[in-house]
Amino acid sequence: MVMKIDEPDKLIAANKGGTIIFGQNNDCVIAASDPAAFEPFAIKKKRILGDNEIAVISAEGWEIFKEAKTEEEDFFSAKSDIGDFLFFMEKEIFEQPKIFSNTIAGRFIFEQGLPRLDGIEDFARELRNVKNFHFVGCGTAYNACRYAALLFNRFGIAARAWIASEFCYSHPVFDPTDAFVFISQSGETADTIEVINEIKIKGNICLGIVNVPGSRIWRETDAGIGIRAGKEKGVASTKAFTSQLATIVMLAVFLARQRKMTIDTGQRIINELKKIPDKIEIILRDADRIKELAKKYACFRNYYFLGRYFHSVTADEGSLKLKEISYVHAEGYPLGEMKHGPLALIEPDFCSVVIIPDDPIFKKGIVNIHEIKGRNGTVLAITDKKKGISPADDTINIPTTIDYLSPILTTIPTQLFAYYMALEFGCNPDKPRNLAKTVTVN
Ligand code: AGP
Repeated sequence: MVMKIDEPDKLIAANKGGTIIFGQNNDCVIAASDPAAFEPFAIKKKRILGDNEIAVISAEGWEIFKEAKTEEEDFFSAKSDIGDFLFFMEKEIFEQPKIFSNTIAGRFIFEQGLPRLDGIEDFARELRNVKNFHFVGCGTAYNACRYAALLFNRFGIAARAWIASEFCYSHPVFDPTDAFVFISQSGETADTIEVINEIKIKGNICLGIVNVPGSRIWRETDAGIGIRAGKEKGVASTKAFTSQLATIVMLAVFLARQRKMTIDTGQRIINELKKIPDKIEIILRDADRIKELAKKYACFRNYYFLGRYFHSVTADEGSLKLKEISYVHAEGYPLGEMKHGPLALIEPDFCSVVIIPDDPIFKKGIVNIHEIKGRNGTVLAITDKKKGISPADDTINIPTTIDYLSPILTTIPTQLFAYYMALEFGCNPDKPRNLAKTVTVN
């Protein structure tokens, strides 16, 4: 905020990614970065100064000088040229550090260890009393739902994920006070909309985690959080997925801080989220090596993508990427389940991509890799260990982070692997056969 010497009764405020709130009562006008500052005053009127907005404040009130473009104007006016990239999918993979930063920018009240999610603020009190959360989506968005369910449970909040196309026919049991969260990049997926229509009949709270502002799901849900990933042109979702995960983490921390999470834990997660873009950048610098691995493994026509706990999600997402753009058969499977049948398929020309970060279940994963190698299977490991995974044939090393944030990082090498594999097979990763970017039919 600044003041002009010759107009001392005025303040000029501009916001870029921060928190500026105006409050007014009968005696004064207050500008503060923390809502707690208003407590001693009986504020009658309040306005949050949005990103890119400028205002002039005086004793009479405030005047917003430069209204921020609405999220819709921002989204649709943004240029989406391909630049020097071969395909939009490549561009979208490589712009994830910038996009991730944009998704989280201005969305924290750090001193409170709290995300600031304007879109759901009006429901904050109601959400405090919700005991069960249901996440609903399709494809990559469903994988984000599964991540959300695991993270909410990790934070002590009951949650489960539903495949949208299954929900209405599986006789779901839920409580009237449960909240539903619909995840969708396009905001137009018919299967997901069908569930929203069903839940609106029941009267439960409907939240959205959506990329396209003003889309059907964006409008039909009671409230929501825009993931701010910008236009995603590649049919295979990449930057939207990591932005969905970022948004899920912010929502989980917001709700967990309403419950048992302490300020310092909230601050620790916020600090780590802010480091993620640089860590994604480090992985992207390894792209040439991943391209070489795609060339080496182009001889394989069958893949398992395997992981435990959070990484069973990124395993499924990695297998979906490879399937949908290179037409290679790939199946995501929980790593610990291999011995219950899937090992039967293992042979030298069957490749297993194993996501095995250095976490409390790392040793169990190593045993599973030995089980695969013992049957002459080929293993490509993805790990945040500083060295190679010895039983594996090849290892992709990535930076480390908090275990429940590592899916944001482990998904990057699987995106690159699928992209370069598609190029190896002469496929167009932006327009894969049989698929549409938005599935508006049930
Ligand atoms: C993901 O790469 C696919 N394009 C597809 O699974 C997609 O995630 C699914 O159709 C859901 O789309 P939505 O996020 O726009 O709802």
